[in-house]
Amino acid sequence: MSSNSNNQVYPVLWREQSPATPLQGHVLLIDQTRLPNEYTVVEINRYEDMARAIETMIVRGAPAIGVAAAYGVYLGARDIQTSDRSEFLAQLEPVAERLRATRPTAVNLFWAIDRMVKTARQTLGSVDHLKQTLLDTAKAINADDIQTCHQIGDHGLKALPTNPKKLRVLTHCNAGALATAGYGTALGVVRSAWRDGRLERVYADETRPRLQGAKLTAWECVQEGIPVTVITDNMAAHCMQRGMIDAVVVGADRIAANGDAANKIGTYSVALVAKAHNIPFFVAAPLSTIDFAIADGSEIPIEERNPSEIYTVGETILCPAGAEFYNPAFDVTPAALISAIITEYGAIAPAQLREQLADKQAG
Ligand code: MRU
Repeated sequence: MSSNSNNQVYPVLWREQSPATPLQGHVLLIDQTRLPNEYTVVEINRYEDMARAIETMIVRGAPAIGVAAAYGVYLGARDIQTSDRSEFLAQLEPVAERLRATRPTAVNLFWAIDRMVKTARQTLGSVDHLKQTLLDTAKAINADDIQTCHQIGDHGLKALPTNPKKLRVLTHCNAGALATAGYGTALGVVRSAWRDGRLERVYADETRPRLQGAKLTAWECVQEGIPVTVITDNMAAHCMQRGMIDAVVVGADRIAANGDAANKIGTYSVALVAKAHNIPFFVAAPLSTIDFAIADGSEIPIEERNPSEIYTVGETILCPAGAEFYNPAFDVTPAALISAIITEYGAIAPAQLREQLADKQAG
């Protein structure tokens, strides 16, 4: 389900049982915890299983968990056994709450769940009609995200430096097809540059502690034949100092109204080093990642994950008993370090976000 002949990767897919039973079917997720060694697809039929898949990072990446949560709301709605509309809406609330509680930082999750709940409230007619509308909405969120990523790729290509002709681009974490509904945000820009003959190579930070760069970004690049060099996170400064990097492109999990951008832990240090070396630093993200309700990055909730992600590698324990750990999954890059934010509406200076995009999101 994940790759077609064009090597396209779709981490979240709706699989209909048969056209005669449109409400039946299930979601297929690529199990991202097993890549790159094992390519496994997980079938999700219940909203609780979708919530667990998001928590355990079987599906991860801001836009991808938004799409997954939208299908999760539908799966929960499908199991509600009432024909009374008010009762249906009341029973949908705990479904939405459970999905909202899975991960705190990526705002796309809340954006997608809110859109599903709002659609349910605004749809008139029978409960069966409501369920069908919710499935259609989840499918639309899914399809729109793929289109959005292609637009981000196109705009990113125009925003990249024109010198040298073939660029060496550093990225952090995975903001690729696996982190979205397909194509990717930061890696969408990279893909577009590759297809346009503007890319020499990707440098992928390994991205401790979950290794999304080493495992997922490198896997996507290899699948597509894009030259990729994996470096450990502490090598980025050295590579920039040696003149090996022409631009940095990363994704985002939540962007505040002033342009401060939360992304995978370690992004902030990459931005600081890029600034020190006068290397442009781009954040690529859809409009659904921008949270106009918060003024700046200090208000972005930062997820803290289990310390075992730090002190174990596979079965091996790395650290002595008695040591303590701090494991924030994200950090905030201040707007001042960001050259432009690349959205489906173009490359925009962080300070211009509200002026250029707030009405688009409201509408
Ligand atoms: O914890 P994850 O893997 O869900 O975090 C995802 C990221 O932070 C990615 O870097 C990404 O840029 C945001 S999603 C396109």
